[in-house]
Amino acid sequence: MSDRRKPVSEVDDPQRSGAKQPERFDAHRADKLDDPSRFEYLPPDAILSLLDLPTGAFLVDFGAGTGAFAIRLAQARPDVSVVALDEQPAMLDRLRAKPQAHTLANLRAVLPDELPCLAGRADRVLALNVLHELGDAALASLAGLVAPNGFALFIDWNAEADRPVGPPRDHVYSPREAVERLERLGFTAQSLPSLPYHYVLRAKPRSATRD
Ligand SMILES: C[S@@+](CC[C@H](N)C(=O)[O-])C[C@H]1O[C@@H](n2cnc3c(N)ncnc32)[C@H](O)[C@@H]1O
Repeated sequence: MSDRRKPVSEVDDPQRSGAKQPERFDAHRADKLDDPSRFEYLPPDAILSLLDLPTGAFLVDFGAGTGAFAIRLAQARPDVSVVALDEQPAMLDRLRAKPQAHTLANLRAVLPDELPCLAGRADRVLALNVLHELGDAALASLAGLVAPNGFALFIDWNAEADRPVGPPRDHVYSPREAVERLERLGFTAQSLPSLPYHYVLRAKPRSATRD
């Protein structure tokens, strides 16, 4: 997913303050999110296993984009309610236009204006390829979704991995930088074994930690 991008120092939107890549994902590049080759280095089965979803769980895919993964997860786990949340209506339109999305009663696509109704309810939050573009305010919103015994799973491009795909190194975090940022913003974060091009962090907002 390497491409032309604005310099990292150029902050487009104060809402994105704190993000390593401060400009919004370009919806014109949404086709890339639906490239099936992504599933080779981000296997949905591996993500399902990392999510460790309890029966009947409530999962929020935060920054779901076109729903490439939300759909796969909802298909694999009909018992789980999957909310695909994205700030860009154009991305959710693409998700809703997919034939598979029509057959999945357990998948709902929502904009961030639904965040208050979702607060404290998510057994799991998936943040896939999104930490590097989430501002501090959005991360606080994400933290607010996590249920008392739940956790968030951050899987994002690893700045230290040699990769033929993905954003430039200086737009994304090393695993250590990602942990430090999450800890600074009120999470307890644990590194899990990496995927080929991605680090994996399991994180709990300290405010939600009960166990
Ligand atoms: C690189 S895409 C990844 C999409 C998806 N997770 C995937 O891997 O296929 C990042 C997505 O996060 C969304 N996003 C960024 N900041 C957001 C925020 N604060 N709230 C909701 N969505 C956000 C963008 O609109 C974009 O669709």
